[in-house]
Amino acid sequence: MEKIYITTAIPYVNGKPHIGHAVDYCLADCYARYHRLKGDEVRFQAGTDEHGNKIAQKAKELDLPVQDYVNENANKFRDFIKKLNVSYTDFVRTTDESHEKRVQEIWRRLSDHIYKAKYEGWYCTGCERYVTKKEFDETGGVCPDHQKPYEELQEENYYFRVSDFKDRIREAIVSNEMRILPEFRKKEILCLLEESPDVSISRPVSQLSWGVPVPDDPSQVMYVWLDALSNYITVIGFPDAKDFGEWWPANAQFVGKDILRFHAIIWPAMLIGLGLPLPQNLVSHGMVLCDGQKMSKSIGNVVDPIEVLESHGLDAFRYYFLRHIDTFADSDFTWDKYEEAYNNELANDLGNLVQRLATLADKNQIVISRDNNSRLSDEYIALMDGFEFSKAFDLVWNKIQELNKRIDEEKPWSLAKNGEIEKLKTCLHNLIDGLLTAVYELSPFIPDAAAKIIDIFSGKITTPKVPLFPKNHN
Ligand code: MSP
Repeated sequence: MEKIYITTAIPYVNGKPHIGHAVDYCLADCYARYHRLKGDEVRFQAGTDEHGNKIAQKAKELDLPVQDYVNENANKFRDFIKKLNVSYTDFVRTTDESHEKRVQEIWRRLSDHIYKAKYEGWYCTGCERYVTKKEFDETGGVCPDHQKPYEELQEENYYFRVSDFKDRIREAIVSNEMRILPEFRKKEILCLLEESPDVSISRPVSQLSWGVPVPDDPSQVMYVWLDALSNYITVIGFPDAKDFGEWWPANAQFVGKDILRFHAIIWPAMLIGLGLPLPQNLVSHGMVLCDGQKMSKSIGNVVDPIEVLESHGLDAFRYYFLRHIDTFADSDFTWDKYEEAYNNELANDLGNLVQRLATLADKNQIVISRDNNSRLSDEYIALMDGFEFSKAFDLVWNKIQELNKRIDEEKPWSLAKNGEIEKLKTCLHNLIDGLLTAVYELSPFIPDAAAKIIDIFSGKITTPKVPLFPKNHN
């Protein structure tokens, strides 16, 4: 039994959740449940990123006190995570007093690598990121993600000397001590690392007051990313919790590809500066697109995850986001695709299989002794350990489709009609055993449906009154 620590990116609370936010949670939760199946002890963080200009500006636009504004939105995120049945164990808000104190301690401990200097350059509030001259020139001074001109800054700031850590970070990435997934992003990150200047890690209070104060310098607040990245260790009690070292380093940190650069450069630099080991896996997933386009308020294609959840239930949501949203590539969400996956796959492949097998076993009073279906195949384990969740899901789904073929070929209803009871028993036993073995492997993906199916086939089997995945569901 191992101790496994899993983390998710903490979303900005400058609005309510959209469907893209579900990806981190679905992947991390699937991985956490997989480890629990293997008997590991799991600690699983989630939280909200509540400082920075982006949030302060939004609150100002709405004429709300910033704290009230973040309280309201943080609740929306927490509710959403709960609705997704995410099995997190620890939740952090960056406005928690205990987090802020710990971040200040982190700053103090990094002080040998911090210096004050004048910053002259650009900033994108949408990305909450300082922009290099090269990027500014390449983009014509307009952020390609936010379609807004970069802000020009001339400020006295604190800098973090990333150059002190570059060699060590490069070595950790190349040797896979800190494995970057998918593999093809490694090269991209190594290039960014070479180009990476020292990072400005504070803003003058006169420009931004909504942040953690820099220790011993009331004129400055911390850069939001320094504060946010620290959450992964503050939430498990760095520096003083006695069991901190039992959990850190994280086994896996899940982030979107858009924020991998912060996690693969600034974050390891901070950890090395603190004398801490690096995370074992940085898993960067692709983006959810809507109708082939990036979701954006101005295009008006932002999909509300609560609406999706309420339309076909939680299992359908997790099914789509873990199977049809590819783990590493960008993938599309459309209502048509969603409905199709629900009707043709969940309802037809899985729902009908369960219904047919349960009805046959019930009608013929067949009792199944199940002793051997809590096993994971080697191929499944290899895919899950490699964070290939959508591929692992495909693998299990093939088993479900295989069982559908077998039931059509072996025709247990004919055996029943002909009174071939022994043959019928063996046939149903094998099919139900196959189903339950597949369902065991499905349980990290769609835990609610898996629990219901296991329940149906436990003890005396009775025909479910309501199908698992009713059609024309609204
Ligand atoms: N606050 C930072 C993260 C700090 S972690 C120390 C942030 N917040 S975010 O709200 O913009 O994004 C939160 C997570 O959601 C990130 O992992 C991001 O990649 C992910 N996604 C945001 N939009 C997404 C899609 N459209 N599709 C998939 N994931 C998306 O970045």
